[in-house]
Amino acid sequence: MENQTLKQLQNRKSIRHFTGEAVSKEDLETIFKTAQRAPTSINGQQISLIYTRDKEKLKTIAELCGGQTHIATADVFVGVVIDFNRTDIIVESIGKKQIIEQSAEGIMVGAVDAGIMLHALQVAAEALGYGTTAIGGVRKDSDAIIEIFNLPKKTFLAVGCTIGVPTQEAKNAPLKPRISLESFVMQETYDREKVRNGVLGYEQILKTFRDTTGSGSMPTYAKITSSNYADVYYRKTAKSLVAQGFAFKDE
Ligand SMILES: Cc1cc2nc3c(=O)[nH]c(=O)nc-3n(C[C@H](O)[C@H](O)[C@H](O)COP(=O)(O)O)c2cc1C
Repeated sequence: MENQTLKQLQNRKSIRHFTGEAVSKEDLETIFKTAQRAPTSINGQQISLIYTRDKEKLKTIAELCGGQTHIATADVFVGVVIDFNRTDIIVESIGKKQIIEQSAEGIMVGAVDAGIMLHALQVAAEALGYGTTAIGGVRKDSDAIIEIFNLPKKTFLAVGCTIGVPTQEAKNAPLKPRISLESFVMQETYDREKVRNGVLGYEQILKTFRDTTGSGSMPTYAKITSSNYADVYYRKTAKSLVAQGFAFKDE
């Protein structure tokens, strides 16, 4: 592969083992500046980043995210915040009242923009040789996370991201396989059969991957997915969103 960008993207993986070395201040600034080039819906720029490298806070965040100890061993934790407080200021400045945060559309806008920002952050950090993992666990106890970062109304910490120096072993670890390309990309029409075959086939692909990488004791794709999706795994999200001034009142 000649193209460095493609090479990087095709080799990305979550990193949960860090050496404990620091992310340099200059690199962190480059990561943030680069991530800020990500697109935002209507150029609203309704995303803010909030970060900590305070080791005690990292430990607390790790616990709040369901005992994810790898978060405590990262050098930096970055929260990706849906920030309709920012847009509220400009809307109010011309005598209007913002209501977008009280709609499913607003929550979609915020969630999509947060996802794009997360990836921009990860790509920038990985380009500098750092390892990252997205942290949806921040929504396990959103109220506590909101308090740690002193987030105002009309904001919500949608997802987090760890950044640190990866261990050599983590760097060498194989890439987690994906469902077949043909069951992922469809031309013109959604093909239920391809999706069905692809996802059922993936169950075996992931099992084989786990067996050959020594993680055979981990639950299968079907087990992990059903243990999360046959339930709502973070049950406080709706309440926390409402407490922050979000709602579904589109009609
Ligand atoms: C929005 C989002 C939230 C995630 N939350 C977590 C998390 O809380 N903890 C974690 O260890 N990994 C988390 N992940 C990482 C996924 O588990 C990981 O991307 C997936 O298993 C595929 O592995 P790979 O990234 O190594 O290819 C999250 C990923 C995304 C996109």
